[in-house]
Amino acid sequence: MAYGGIQAVKGVDFEVREGELVSLIGSNGAGKTTTMKAITGSLPINDGDIEYLGKSIRGQGPWDLVKQGLAMVPEGRGIFTRMTILENLQMGAYIRNDKPEIQMDIEKVFGIFPRLKERKDQLAGTLSGGEQQMLAMGRALISRPKVLLLDEPSMGLSPIMVDKIFEVVRDVYAQGVTVLLVEQNASRALALANRGYVMDSGLITMTGEGKTMLKDPKVRAAYLGE
Ligand SMILES: Nc1ncnc2c1ncn2[C@@H]1O[C@H](COP(=O)(O)OP(=O)(O)OP(=O)(O)O)[C@@H](O)[C@H]1O
Ligand SMILES: [Mg+2]
Repeated sequence: MAYGGIQAVKGVDFEVREGELVSLIGSNGAGKTTTMKAITGSLPINDGDIEYLGKSIRGQGPWDLVKQGLAMVPEGRGIFTRMTILENLQMGAYIRNDKPEIQMDIEKVFGIFPRLKERKDQLAGTLSGGEQQMLAMGRALISRPKVLLLDEPSMGLSPIMVDKIFEVVRDVYAQGVTVLLVEQNASRALALANRGYVMDSGLITMTGEGKTMLKDPKVRAAYLGE
């Protein structure tokens, strides 16, 4: 995967199995976001393939994938700032036409994030960073994903909000959604994960069980600031 001829990601070979929570960690500029964009078709890939449920999804765009149960919360959240919270959530249901159930799912999201309910008619652009993250996650959940891709959901948030976001990720996973989590917060991400991958300079350089990696001295030195 390249930007204007400069290759950003070279040999990324990894898998996420059904029902797993997999964390992808790595320093700034390692290529994590590029990889996520390649999976969801918002960036073309030059070489290789991406399979979902046993079939190639290479070349399919984000909306095609949402219809097949693959939803992404992008880095920076990607909410519609000039729409209200409620309208943003309704956008998440764009692929569905079962109105009463959509309403139930919106209520469910409000149950997870009561703050969003209190502010449902407020423009999304006026929300705090943490609230925007809740909204982006809520919007993804409303598409009823089988697989949820999260790109740095805890970035820039206060400690309380970080706790809340990790708690929701854990709950979503516990309810049977497969999760691919990209995080700078390597310790939290690996503690939660079945398996982890480390990415460095556009390559996958290490993999293992989440808890094993958490104890690995190399991982601790490079990504946990020890
Ligand atoms: N639109 C772009 N144009 C040119 N280069 C880009 C572009 N987006 C990313 N890159 C480069 O590609 C490389 C990988 O970037 P990427 O955003 O995938 O990293 P990342 O692992 O997500 O980092 P971070 O943890 O900071 O989010 C970096 O060297 C980056 O500068
Ligand atoms: Mg990134």
